[in-house]
Parts: sequence; C-alpha cells; structure tokens
Amino acid sequence: MPETITITDDRTGKQITVPITDGVFPASAVRELDPSLYIYDPAYMQTAACKSSITYLDGDNGVLRYRGYPIEQLAAKSTYLEVAYLLLNGELPDAAQLATWTYEVTNHTYIHENMRKRFVDGFHYDAHPMGMFVSSLAALGTFYNDAKDIDDKASRDKQILRLIAKTPTLASMAYRFSAGLPFVYPDNDLSFPGNFLNMMWKVGEYNIDPRLERAMDVLFILHADHEQNCGTTAMRIVGSSHADPYTSAAAAASALYGPLHGGANEAVVRMLTDIGHIDNVPAFIEEVKGGKGSRLMGFGHRVYKNYDPRATIIKKTAYDVFEVTGKNPLLDIALKLEETALSDPYFVDRKLYPNVDFYSGLIYQAMGFPVSMFTVLFAIPRTVGWLAHWQELLGDKDQKISRPRQWYTGVEARDYTPMAGR
Ligand code: CMC
Repeated sequence: MPETITITDDRTGKQITVPITDGVFPASAVRELDPSLYIYDPAYMQTAACKSSITYLDGDNGVLRYRGYPIEQLAAKSTYLEVAYLLLNGELPDAAQLATWTYEVTNHTYIHENMRKRFVDGFHYDAHPMGMFVSSLAALGTFYNDAKDIDDKASRDKQILRLIAKTPTLASMAYRFSAGLPFVYPDNDLSFPGNFLNMMWKVGEYNIDPRLERAMDVLFILHADHEQNCGTTAMRIVGSSHADPYTSAAAAASALYGPLHGGANEAVVRMLTDIGHIDNVPAFIEEVKGGKGSRLMGFGHRVYKNYDPRATIIKKTAYDVFEVTGKNPLLDIALKLEETALSDPYFVDRKLYPNVDFYSGLIYQAMGFPVSMFTVLFAIPRTVGWLAHWQELLGDKDQKISRPRQWYTGVEARDYTPMAGR
C-alpha cells in the first residue's frame, strides 16, 4: 500500500500526491494546489502544528511516555528533577550530571526581594493564587534583561534554570500572602519537593513526612509534560514571536488556569463537595447526561479515549497519602461517581474516563492545600514541559511566527453609514 495521499481539487481537476509519514502529511500540499485554499480545523482537532520528540501519547491505548520512558516507570523510580533534566536534554542524567543539575536548580530558588515586596505584596488581599502566579511569572522576567537574548544558548539555559527553580518559591509566596502568613525563604538543604512543602507549611518547627514529600514528587512527575495541550500550545505560539520565556510561560500559565484545562482539579473538588453524599451521585449523573448541570469534571480528554495512565498512578498515590493524612471524605463520592459513570452507556459510548484531575484534587486537599492552590500545583512542574517545548520550538527550522488563517464570515465591503442614516 503506497504511503501517499492524493488530493484532487474538483474545481480545476488539479491533483497533488504527497507522502504520509508517521500518519502525517504536509499541509503545504494544499498550498501547492491553491494558495488561497485553507483547511478549517477549529481547536486544531486534526492538525499537527509541530514535530516534537519530547512526549509520546497514545490516547486510544492509554500510553504516555517522556522521551520514550513509560510514565509508570518514571513515577515509580525517578524524581521530578531527574525527569526535568530528561525532558530538557533528551536523556536521563548520569550521577555527575544529576548532581550538577540539582545543585544548580537548588541555588536558583531565591527571588529578588523586590518581587515579594513590590509585586506580591501589592495584590488585593483576596487575590486568587493562580492569578498571582500568572502575573508573577511575567513580572519575574523584568528582573532579567538577559532573558530577551533568546538566540544565546547560555542565556536560554540560565532562564530555564531560573524558571524551574523559582516557580515553587513564587507559588508558596502566593499562598502565604493569601493566608496572611510571613514568607518562608527557600531552604537549599532540602529536596525540590521538600523545599516546596517547607515554604508552604512551615510555621515554627515543621518536619516533612517523607511519604508526603515523595507523593509531591510523583505528582510533579505526572504533571511535567503532556505534549501539545492548551498551555503548551500557548507557550509555543507566544514563544514563536520570540517573546522572552517568562512572558511566554505567563501565557501558558494563563491557558492552564481555565477550568477545562488545569483548573479542572479545582472544579472536581467543588463538584464533589456540591454532590455532598454518595446517595446523590445517580441524580448528579443524570443531570450531567441531560446537559442541565455541569460536565462531569475530571472526566474526558481530547486525546485519551481510555483511562488516563496518570489517573491510575494518582489513584494509588491517593491511598499512600491518606495513610498519612487520613482519608479524604470526598473519596467515597469520587469512587461512586467513577463506578457509576464507567458503567453508564453515555460515558462508555463517548469514551469518557477519569483524567489526571479526577483524583489529584483529593490528594492536594488531604495534604492541606486550599482548593485555590490546585492549579498552581499543576503549573509548578508543567513549567519544565513548557520550557522543553520552547527550547525545541526555537531550534526547529520548520517553525515561524504562529499565524493561522481564518474563514471570514462577516459582511462584504460596504460604505460608512452617517449617524443620521443608522
Ligand atoms: N462530562 C460529560 N460529558 C462530556 C464530558 C464530561 N466531562 N466530556 C465530554 N463530554 C461529552 C460532550 O458533551 C460531547 O457529547 P456529544 O457528542 O453528545 O455532544 C462528547 O462527550 C465529546 O466532548 P467534546 O467536548 O467534543 O470533547 P473535547 O475533546 O472537546 O473535550 C474536555 C475534552 C477535556 C474539554 C472535556 O472532556 C471536558 O470538558 N472535561 C471536563 C473538564 C476536565 O476534566 N478537564 C481536564 C482535562 S485533563 C487535564 C488537562 O488537560 O488540563
């Protein structure tokens, strides 16, 4: 069978045959047929906007791999910092590389004092932590004028290091501000997740439970990248204009903020709280199916048409965390919802399964994080995914500034109507 596709323009009879490589054919074929002919593809459902060698996702079979390594193995055996190195560099670090990388990240965790005093302290008292996080990311870039030097690899590497190291600091600062607590400076003797937990919770003496530290690391690994999702696409689109990585990451974080994306973990806990009791689950499911209430948050995915492999790992991690914190009372409602939905033809026929957000919120809540911090917890590790894609984008000779075309459906040209004639 030839690995080609032939497109015929029936208006002109012109034909073009192009190769299909890995299931993809170039849209330039359409341009060759007729440069004024466009493909209508809202939400990029059928469009591969880039080549990427970072993350592999097979939604039908529930497969997720970073640089070829199955997510299950990375979650079981690796650490977030090791995974961050892998995503950025393509290979797992050896012992010396990991030591250097860990040292470098650990020594970039502090942020400029003016960032806290003048920016964070300037927010309204009840500002949402994710709103603070998004704006702080953009503001952070104003402290590093070398960030604009995106053609210089040394400068790019420096910004990547800064962003990965400083996002936990910004995140905890946003939380401490909203809770009215004094800011806790990074403790560079701690691990990456340990330092974050310490900055979040330390009031007087604080001893980190190693099981919670590990759970935090696993959650960071699971959220580190997910190929061309909405946030990463925002990073690539803004990055394609050669904006600095802080501004681009702020755009990516803004996309993540939405309830259909990273905001879903927050929406799940609010939904479970509203349901209130397992007896109310069947009625809630009927409401969802009837389109009266909200969607079943934490269910469904643009790409996964099977159980999200991250959800399986998170469900197990939830039990590890509950051993320390006690069971989250919302767990029973979540389990009942999952069981009910997975045996209901509405969800089965549409291939709607639990996604990464279905159980993560329960863990975060059990660990003491307020619901408003959930998306921030997603953004901390996703920063490395955004940066890995930004780096790949800048090195990709096929890429140019992103600029899709439109299907104009407005009125044709007409003359200005004077006020008296309207
Ligand atoms: N509850 C009820 N029905 C749903 C749901 C849901 N969660 N998700 C999809 N559907 C239905 C939808 O109504 C449609 O039905 P019909 O064909 O009768 O019109 C069908 O399933 C296909 O839905 P879609 O909206 O075309 O699917 P999509 O690929 O555009 O949407 C999604 C993907 C994730 C936005 C959607 O499944 C959703 O809104 N889920 C709830 C929010 C959520 O959990 N988001 C987190 C996603 S994973 C983490 C991340 O990416 O950040």
